[in-house]
Amino acid sequence: MRVTNTRWYPKYHIAAPAGWSNDTNGLCFYKGQYHCFYQHHPHSAQWGQMHWGHAVSDDLIRWKHLPIALAPTNDYDRDGCFSGSAIEKDGRLYLFYTGNIPNEQNQNMAFSDDGVHFEKYEHNPVIVAPDDKDLDIFRPDFRDPKVWQRGDTYYMVIGSRTKDKMRGQALLYESEDLYDWKFKSVMMRAEGNEGDMAECVNLASVEGKDVMIFSPQGIKRVGNMYKNLFQSGYFIGKLDYETGIFVHGDFELLDYGFDFYAPQITKIPDGRTIMIGWLQSWFTPMTEDVDGWAGLMTVPREVHVKNGKVVTPPIKELAGLRLSEKSFDNLVFYEDTKFDGVEGEVGELVMEIDLTETRAFEIDLRVGEEEKSVITYDDAIHLFKFNRDKAGAGSDGEREVKLPPADTMNLHIFLDRSSIEIFINDGEYVLSNRVYPRSDSTGIVFVPQEGAFKIDSLKFYTLGEGIPQPVVD
Ligand code: FRU
Repeated sequence: MRVTNTRWYPKYHIAAPAGWSNDTNGLCFYKGQYHCFYQHHPHSAQWGQMHWGHAVSDDLIRWKHLPIALAPTNDYDRDGCFSGSAIEKDGRLYLFYTGNIPNEQNQNMAFSDDGVHFEKYEHNPVIVAPDDKDLDIFRPDFRDPKVWQRGDTYYMVIGSRTKDKMRGQALLYESEDLYDWKFKSVMMRAEGNEGDMAECVNLASVEGKDVMIFSPQGIKRVGNMYKNLFQSGYFIGKLDYETGIFVHGDFELLDYGFDFYAPQITKIPDGRTIMIGWLQSWFTPMTEDVDGWAGLMTVPREVHVKNGKVVTPPIKELAGLRLSEKSFDNLVFYEDTKFDGVEGEVGELVMEIDLTETRAFEIDLRVGEEEKSVITYDDAIHLFKFNRDKAGAGSDGEREVKLPPADTMNLHIFLDRSSIEIFINDGEYVLSNRVYPRSDSTGIVFVPQEGAFKIDSLKFYTLGEGIPQPVVD
C-alpha cells in the first residue's frame, strides 16, 4: 500500500504511513518515549483485519513510524487484533488487546523489552468472556481492554453490553501480576440514553475524581445533540474498589464536532493525563481513501476536571511545532477582513474575542474560490456552529454547541490538510472535524455579522512537520 497523493495527508497529526487507521491504542510513555499505537489495516485504505500500527515520539509532537506491532496471525486473533492498551511493569511493556474471532472476543497480551518488537504471550487468551448465567453479558461484544495500576493491583476495564443488546456496560477485572485476571464486577451499566454498547472504555483518576471516558454506540439523537452515529464522552464519579461499582453523574460529550471517536487516555511522567482520539466518525466517507490512506488521530489533549466538567485543551507542547508568528492586537472592524499572513492549509489560530462588543461573528477557514469551512457564533443565543456544507469534497452538514454566557471567548484552532480542530475557552468545548478542501483553499476571512467584530488579540502560527510525509512518485 502506498500513498499516491498527499493533498489531504496530515502535516503533524498521527496517521498510518499508508492504508487504514482507526482508534488510538496502547497510548503510553515507555523508556523515555511516548508510544501511540492505532488500529491499522496495512493492505488497503478500508477497515479490514486489524493490526496495531505504531508511532513513537520524544516530545508528543514529532512522531516517527515504527514497524507494525501486532498482526492477526494466531487462532485467537485471526479476524483482527482489536483495540487495547499498554502498561509498563518492571521495565517491560505489556500490550493488552482484543482477539476478534467469529462470534467471540477475548483478551490477549503481548510484551516487549525494547518498545519495538512485540511477542505474544504463549498462553493467550488471558481472558475469555464470562459464561456465568447470572452475569448479563453479551459475549460476542467484549472488547477494548484498558489496564491501570493502583497500589500493587492491576485493573482492567472491558467494554460490553447486556444480553438483550440494549445497554452498554463496563466490566472490571483485577490481577496481581498482569497474567492471571479475575472478574470483579459490572462497574457501569448504561441507563436511559447512554448507549447500547460501550466501546473503548478508559478509567483514570484526574484531579481527585474518577473519570470514565468511553465511546458508546446507540445514543439516540436529541434535537441537534448526538448527531454523529456514535459518540465519545465521559462520566465523572467514584469507583469503589471494594465493590467494583462506579457511581457517577450524567453522560457528557467530550467533543461536539463531526469527527471524534475512541479516545484513549494515559498518565505521563509529569502527572498530566493526556488523550488522543481518532479524528473520524464511523461510516462517514473517508474521502482520502482514493489516495491510499484513511484515518488520522487528533492532536494530543490534556484531560482536566474543572467546575465538575472534563476539559481537554491541546497539550502545551504543540507550541513546539510553531515556525512563524503573526500577531495583531485590539482589532475592531465592521466588514469582512483578512489579515496579512493569516492563512494556510496548515496552521494554528489563537484569538481572544470581546463578546461585550461583538454580537455575532463568522470565521471562514480554508477559503478558496468556491470553498469555505464556516464557524459562526451568535451571542444572543450563545450558539457556536461549525458548518462544512461548502468545505470541499467529503460530507457536509453542521454541528453546534451552546456555550455559557461570557464576556470573552478564547478560540484556539488547529488546521491541518484535512482537519480542523476547534478548542473553545481552553478546551471547555471542542469540535473536531474532517474537511477535504483543495490545497490552494488557504484563506481565512473574519466576518462581522451584527456591527463590530472586536478581537483583543489574534495570533496565527505556521506549523512544521510532525509526521513523516509519504513520498509520492
Ligand atoms: C471502536 C472499535 C473498537 C474495536 C475496534 C476495531 O472504534 O469498534 O471497539 O476494538 O474499533 O477496529
